[in-house]
Amino acid sequence: MSEKVLEIKNLVIEYHTRKSNVQAVNGISLSLEKGTTLGLVGETGAGKTTTALGIMGLIPDPPGKVIDGEIIFEGEDLLKKNKNELIKIRGNKISMIFQDPMTALNPIITVGDQISEVIRLHEKMPAYEAAAKAKEMLEMVGIPGERYGEYPHQFSGGMKQRVVIAMALACNPVLMIADEPTTALDVTIQAQVLDMMNKLKKEFNTSMILITHDLGVVAETCENVAIMYAGEIVEAGTLKDIYENGCHPYTKGLFGSIPDLDEDKDRLQPIMGLMPDPSNLPAGCNFAERCPYSTPECEKQPTANYKLSDTHFVRCGRFKDKAISVEEARKK
Ligand SMILES: Nc1ncnc2c1ncn2[C@@H]1O[C@H](COP(=O)(O)OP(=O)(O)O)[C@@H](O)[C@H]1O
Ligand SMILES: [Mg+2]
Repeated sequence: MSEKVLEIKNLVIEYHTRKSNVQAVNGISLSLEKGTTLGLVGETGAGKTTTALGIMGLIPDPPGKVIDGEIIFEGEDLLKKNKNELIKIRGNKISMIFQDPMTALNPIITVGDQISEVIRLHEKMPAYEAAAKAKEMLEMVGIPGERYGEYPHQFSGGMKQRVVIAMALACNPVLMIADEPTTALDVTIQAQVLDMMNKLKKEFNTSMILITHDLGVVAETCENVAIMYAGEIVEAGTLKDIYENGCHPYTKGLFGSIPDLDEDKDRLQPIMGLMPDPSNLPAGCNFAERCPYSTPECEKQPTANYKLSDTHFVRCGRFKDKAISVEEARKK
């Protein structure tokens, strides 16, 4: 039987500012099996980073608040843990690679020392051994080991991000959350880093959540995919479910906006319109306004999550008569 490392149930996270109530994450549920990677895909503002920070226990409060839900990691609800317990978990079991590498690097410590520090926090070993391992990690992410003694400002943005990735890997986490880790890297380096992350996953059986808006990256790294839109998961499934049978109009739109070399299309087909303002969400389906199939009913009430198979779920009114909702399925 496969082992669940992480299970999120009905997670709701809001930001309360003086001006507005931002409904950043609106009741998402997902699960992650040991040794697999889940791609969390969606455009800017969809709530991806907020979800990741929620798992890490790092939602800035104020203005952020976890309103509801459970985050079960290795059988225990992280939302019930206190600060010290969470710090321990973050240092040892869950690590996160942030979008901006400078949030993770200390400007006044050499990059090599920063990596060996992480290694020694995790494993007892003499300094020289940790330094050798840190050099190895640097090489692994494509940075010459001789640069061990240099400071973050001596590296380019892409190199800094590779240092951060080396640091995240150094503590050999059970769960790694990577928030757009390769967005700042050029394509060849990106391919190397993804390769390296795939190798690590196999070697250490690490589970990962990979946040990205790049469907190509997902195809190369993930077993499962969740498509996020305006704080909700609108479609989830295996890589095959989503890439071969993706059926939410938003998912289809995302694929339609990738240039297809095999087809004789001379223009990209971006999804028209904008994501709704998360501080002012519509009464019905969040995607209705942009959806070519939207009906008056879609605009009136929120859409249920329909179960298309044991692995494939879609939140779209078009499946009302073709599939049963997750809630109905649960009752049975
Ligand atoms: N600290 C904050 N205060 C207020 N609103 C925030 C804060 N952080 C994020 N948000 C809002 O929450 C929504 C989701 O943001 P985020 O999780 O960063 O999305 P993504 O990572 O998918 O781009 C956005 O509307 C964003 O403006
Ligand atoms: Mg983000």
